[in-house]
Amino acid sequence: MNPIKHVAIIMDGNGRWGEKNKKSRNLGHKEGLKTVELAMKECIKNKIKFLTLYAFSTENWKRPLSERKYLFSLLETYLRDKLETLNKEQIKIKIFGKLNFSKKLNKLLNYAEKKTKNNKKLQVNLALNYGSKSEIVSAIKKIGKKKTINIYNIEKNLYSRNIPDPEILIRTGNTHRLSNFMLWQIAYTEIFFEKKLWPDFKSVDFNKILKKFKKIKRNFGDI
Ligand code: IPE
Ligand code: IPE
Ligand code: MG
Repeated sequence: MNPIKHVAIIMDGNGRWGEKNKKSRNLGHKEGLKTVELAMKECIKNKIKFLTLYAFSTENWKRPLSERKYLFSLLETYLRDKLETLNKEQIKIKIFGKLNFSKKLNKLLNYAEKKTKNNKKLQVNLALNYGSKSEIVSAIKKIGKKKTINIYNIEKNLYSRNIPDPEILIRTGNTHRLSNFMLWQIAYTEIFFEKKLWPDFKSVDFNKILKKFKKIKRNFGDI
């Protein structure tokens, strides 16, 4: 049976859900937060150690200021209100991405990382202002001229250093693309495209994917 250590998710479809159900994209983002909590719970239940969530891409800066502001305020409120719960549930927060938000939010993100760093049950990597291409370029730059550019050294300089590549990538929202997410790390990941919009994605859907994954024969080039 295939063990699952790391699940990565492109949480797509909040905007469409909000427009359809509440006549507001922003309220879709708010609803999507409930699915985030559910995904964390399911990972803990299934003893999955790493969950990477694509929350804001380097390309998402193109969105209207009002939507960006709303997203950042949701994140801020969540981290402020739920830090204690995260600690109680032994969840460690890591940020994948360059912190170039407001001073206040940057500080809070650093604080959340620091306050949860000893938690052992589940590591949640929040991909925020994350873009895979620039992650790879910056890893190569960090290797510099003195060391050899090889797979090992590149991996040691990605945000995902020291953690296993995801066995599973889920993208909700009925869109079949990767949108600049973890292009290096998913070289051999099993990809599940899910029709449901992120706020409609439930525990049963998550567990169905785990079940399907367990039946897959993974070859890694072998036969
Ligand atoms: C959420 O889904 C992803 C974020 C960028 C936060 P979207 O906001 O892209 O939702 P759709 O795809 O427009 O429905
Ligand atoms: C990907 O969703 C980014 C996140 C989920 C944060 P997008 O909605 O931004 O992707 P595109 O633009 O449709 O490819
Ligand atoms: Mg989208």
